[in-house]
Amino acid sequence: MRSVEWHDGNVRMIDQRLLPSTFQLVEYDDYRQVAQAIRTMVIRGAPAIGAAAAFGMALAAYQHPSRNRGETLNHLRAAAETLCAARPTAINLSWAVNRLLQRAEAESDPAAIPEALLAEAQALADEDVASNQRLGEHGAALIQEGDTILHHCNTGALATVDYGTALGVIRTAHEQGKRIHVLVDETRPRLQGARLTAWELKVLGVPFTLIADNAAGHFMRTGQVDLVLVGADRVAANGDVANKIGTYKLAVVAQANGIPFFSCVPTSTIDLSLPSGDDIPIEERPADEVTGLSFQGHSIAPEGIPAANPAFDVTPHRYITGIVTERGVIYPPFDISVRRVMEESLDEPAN
Ligand code: MRU
Repeated sequence: MRSVEWHDGNVRMIDQRLLPSTFQLVEYDDYRQVAQAIRTMVIRGAPAIGAAAAFGMALAAYQHPSRNRGETLNHLRAAAETLCAARPTAINLSWAVNRLLQRAEAESDPAAIPEALLAEAQALADEDVASNQRLGEHGAALIQEGDTILHHCNTGALATVDYGTALGVIRTAHEQGKRIHVLVDETRPRLQGARLTAWELKVLGVPFTLIADNAAGHFMRTGQVDLVLVGADRVAANGDVANKIGTYKLAVVAQANGIPFFSCVPTSTIDLSLPSGDDIPIEERPADEVTGLSFQGHSIAPEGIPAANPAFDVTPHRYITGIVTERGVIYPPFDISVRRVMEESLDEPAN
């Protein structure tokens, strides 16, 4: 099933906090609950939270039907603000919410707004799946028979509406019959790699090995990695990429060892309004995500200690070999090619 969908007038999603031990669906009948689900990572991953917020906007429209157009739009603007505030880094969230808001503003009959927003949210979700499948095809062409791929965080069906971005590339290569192996970073502190990516790869039957984040450099230096594939939460106009914390150091080590490093994103993750990654807001999450884990039944850290928990980092474009999108692979110079791919289809490297 999809990570998020409309079901009997509610927004239904997989509770990703419980995976891999429990597969449980949750349903919400209030857009504020959807915002809270995004904030608390019931659902996570840039495209998935964008789609969840889009369905949240449709829910908001159904919650407060009104014959007064101005009143309806004001209510939707308030809902948009609440949903956008849930998490700051992934551009897909505000991109989706703004698309839904514009759809509502284009509707002259307020009675037609709920249905129009549901259709728009559905279209956005369907487009995400189709984009990921095309992205998977473009990316799989970069993978050779016998390759070992290093992957960080979770970029699979769970992080999108379905199919996945970087993990979609891996899935396509696997389905094409290429013999590949994936090194899965556990991705502290929320362990999206260990909990979610490992679960998805196991279900798909893709050969993989889970590694501690700290082991990635060792595998790269000793020639055991052929390429690195990650997703992204926001790509700036110059090709700088914000992604799960730890991505930056992977990219630096990859370049130091001559290993290609690709970020895989639908174009909905590209934000041309920001000139560079320095402008991307980095989410700081609660300290207890770092300190609150236990190992062999015991807390991993002394009680009450301070901890910093930036959820994302920025990888400057000079460390990135290419950005895989549904429109093709974007190569340097990114300040030209990123802008160009937003305007036209691009199948050849930009020169
Ligand atoms: O904090 P998360 O789990 O929402 O972070 C997710 C990531 O960083 C993913 O790698 C990114 O959203 C790309 S997913 C297609």
